Parts: sequence; C-alpha cells; structure tokens
Amino acid sequence: MERRKFLKNSSLSAAGLVSAAALTSCNTEPKPINADISTPNPIKPIVVCTWNFFNATNKAWEVLNSGGNALDAVEQGVMVEEADETNETVGKGGRPDRDGNVTLDACIMDKDGNCGSVVCMQNIVHPVSVARKVMEETPHIILAGKGAEKFAYEQGFKKEDLLTESTRKQYEEWLKTSKYETTINIENHDTIGMLAIDENGDIAGACTTSGMAYKVAGRVGDSPIIGAGLFVDNEVGGATATGVGEEVIRTVGSFLIVELMRQGKSPQEACEEGVKRIMKKNEGRKDFQIGFLAINKNGETGGYCVHPGFTYREYSENGHVNREVTSFYE
Ligand code: GLY
Repeated sequence: MERRKFLKNSSLSAAGLVSAAALTSCNTEPKPINADISTPNPIKPIVVCTWNFFNATNKAWEVLNSGGNALDAVEQGVMVEEADETNETVGKGGRPDRDGNVTLDACIMDKDGNCGSVVCMQNIVHPVSVARKVMEETPHIILAGKGAEKFAYEQGFKKEDLLTESTRKQYEEWLKTSKYETTINIENHDTIGMLAIDENGDIAGACTTSGMAYKVAGRVGDSPIIGAGLFVDNEVGGATATGVGEEVIRTVGSFLIVELMRQGKSPQEACEEGVKRIMKKNEGRKDFQIGFLAINKNGETGGYCVHPGFTYREYSENGHVNREVTSFYE
C-alpha cells in the first residue's frame, strides 16, 4: 500500500516536472491534459467485450445490474470464459505452447489506475483472479511463470490440469507438422478483453488469454501487458485488444487509444487510428488480425480491426447486442 502511494506520488511529481519543463521551454500556459468528454446523461452501467462472448457479458451485466462495481463485473465476466473448456483460447482448455504446456496471461485494472497481471502461468484456471490478487495483495504489478503459480497456491487457488482431451489431441496432431501459423479470426487469438462502467460511472477492465496456439515456450503476448492489451483511465475511458499481440505491444495499442480519446477522438475514431498505426509499421502485410475495442466515459463504444470478422458484444439497459466492426481491409 505504502509503495503504491509512493509510486503514485512519484509519478505525480514526475508529471509536475514535465509540466514545469514545458512551461519553462515554451513560456506558455500548458494545455489541460484531459479533454472534457463528459455529458449530462452518460450511458451506465454498461459492459463490452471482444468477440461474441454472450455468457461472459451476461455475467458481467448481472453484477452491474445488481449494483456491483465495474471491477467485480469484469473479473466475474471473463472468468466465465476461463472456466469454459470449449473456449480453446482462454483459461482451461486453452491450446498449449510448442512443448505441450498451457500457459496463461491475464491482467486487470481498476478506476484508480491500480493494476495486476500474471504472465506465462500454468495449472490455474482463473489467471484474472490471480492478477487481481497481485494488484490487491502485493506491492507489485506483474508476476511471471512459477512465481505467479506459487503465489496463486498461497492465495488458495487450486492446481488443475488445463489441457483437455480435445486440446491434447489437437496438439498431438499439430506435432506431426509443427507448422506455426496464425489463422485469422479463427482460433489463435480470440482473447477476451472486457471493459465496464458501473452505476457510479467508474470504469474497470480485464483481459485474459492462453495466447497464440503452439507459441514458443515462454512467449508472452499483449494481453497481460498494461497499456498494450488493456488500459483504463477513469477520467477518459478504456481500451482492450485481441489478435496478434506482438503488433499490439509495438504500438502500446490500448494506451494509445485511451490517449487519443483524451485528445477528443471518439472510441471509434481512436480504434481506427490505433489499427492504422499498426498497419503503417506493417505496410502490405495481410497475414494477421488485430481488433481494438474502446469505451469512453460517456459509455460510447467503438471498435475496429485489420480484417473483417471481429465483433464485440455490448450489454446496457439499451439491450444485449453483438456489434460488427469495420476493418482496414475489406
Ligand atoms: N492477443 C493475445 C496474444 O497475442 O497472446
């Protein structure tokens, strides 16, 4: 707790130094850092998540609609997919790495900028809940591999084999060729990233995945990296990503999108710019998918992707819908 306060104060001081430096060098008033995007009637509560995860948004909505907070809603929402063995890209039943081990990545972030993350963790069904424990019970943000797993056991999580009959068979089949390639919109990257605003207007987010199927052992994608796979700023909004994590990390995608919204872009415009920045670094490349999803403080949402096919699910008092998004390539 003390260290968190110290870090918070240090970053405030650092921000103060930057502002002071800007004042000295330009001799002008600094611009306000937050665009005023609030309206008198924001949409709340509301939850959105990457892809068409009906049951997960339903669970999160149950929490929000009964007065629960955004942090509980996103945790309990994504846990539905972590426990679902038929979802072969998240939690139990996720596809393994090249050595046959299922390694999970997840993170969570609250309205105060607190965050927690676990990377490359084995044998625990709910990495998002371990990430929350990292956030709430330790002075750290990220725990990795065996350390994360040991911490999870200390916190009462139980050991479980994450490989299922189905993913074991698929892995044995894959071993015959050991070919490593991603399949757009199919099975390699449908990470669940979820963003929610509760009745108080506070925002939280969570992101969880088993990562790229048959990845090199030890590989970590964007999903557990705060700023890449997920970012929340309670004054502005939140963003999350799905797809080939390496490309999202290179542009710190979710942070970028939140900052673009801070500068006045709508969630839709910000997601479009996020994908365009990635495509600029990958001119002509068509062999990967990225989908961004964003929400602003008003509860306005938007999404954009590289190839058609990415959708996001939204649940508010206006209804439960799966939204198709436009894409960089037709
Ligand atoms: N976006 C998930 C991953 O790249 O691992």
